[in-house]
Amino acid sequence: MSAPGQPSIPQHVAIIMDGNGRWARQRGLPRLEGHRRGVESVRTALNAARELGIRYITLYAFSVENWKRPQEEVSGLMGLLELYLKRELSTFVRDEVRFHAIGRTADLPAGVCRLLRETEEATRHFTHWHFTLALNYGARTEVVDAARAYALAVRAGRANPAETGWDEFSRYLYTADLPDPDLLIRTSGELRISNFLLLQLAYAEMVFSPTLWPDFTKADLQAAVDEYGRRERRYGLTSEQVRPGPP
Ligand code: FPP
Repeated sequence: MSAPGQPSIPQHVAIIMDGNGRWARQRGLPRLEGHRRGVESVRTALNAARELGIRYITLYAFSVENWKRPQEEVSGLMGLLELYLKRELSTFVRDEVRFHAIGRTADLPAGVCRLLRETEEATRHFTHWHFTLALNYGARTEVVDAARAYALAVRAGRANPAETGWDEFSRYLYTADLPDPDLLIRTSGELRISNFLLLQLAYAEMVFSPTLWPDFTKADLQAAVDEYGRRERRYGLTSEQVRPGPP
């Protein structure tokens, strides 16, 4: 029951992909096998998003905290990422999907870093579909990086604190090119935000799915979108204001 004038399909869906490790453990497999299957779900989610008409999809693939995982898992994840980017570039170009990476990406392994830049560059001219991976991402780190960039802009005379509101400041976030997410999905039944897009999710609707990420299908995305369509987004207004009745 979206409010009149509110689209029932979210423009931007952000997903915390969780449950790869549990998926693997349930099958007696190494954790990396769960991540490998998780990559298949990334492909599924991206295709499903386009089929449903969701223009922006953002996936939390590696947090600033994930470096503390066992070394073998971290290097395995970096290997999967490298392989994924190499394989997927032609698909992004074929499907006219613009690829973005957000986070402290310069601190990722040099090979991954180079592939990220190449993929962003090769898809820069596409405008309709947007696929973003959050890598070495943390919302608090993002705020610190934005504050540093803003301070430098003030010092250089390119920004004026007296005239800086949210619209001006948000241009210093990693997500400057992206609209705020309308819908956040977290898989695996966990009810946390885990330092993901804390500022950008200010007015997002949230759906927590019990499905483990490697089992995530188009039906799971559709179910979350259907739930989104039943929500009333009020942005601080009253229900009567967003849903005016007959005079
Ligand atoms: C959370 O599951 C998942 C991650 C920390 C990594 C997500 C990575 C992928 C889906 C694969 C790599 C992605 C790309 C785009 C190549 P978890 O390991 O915390 O699961 P658990 O809570 O069940 O242990």
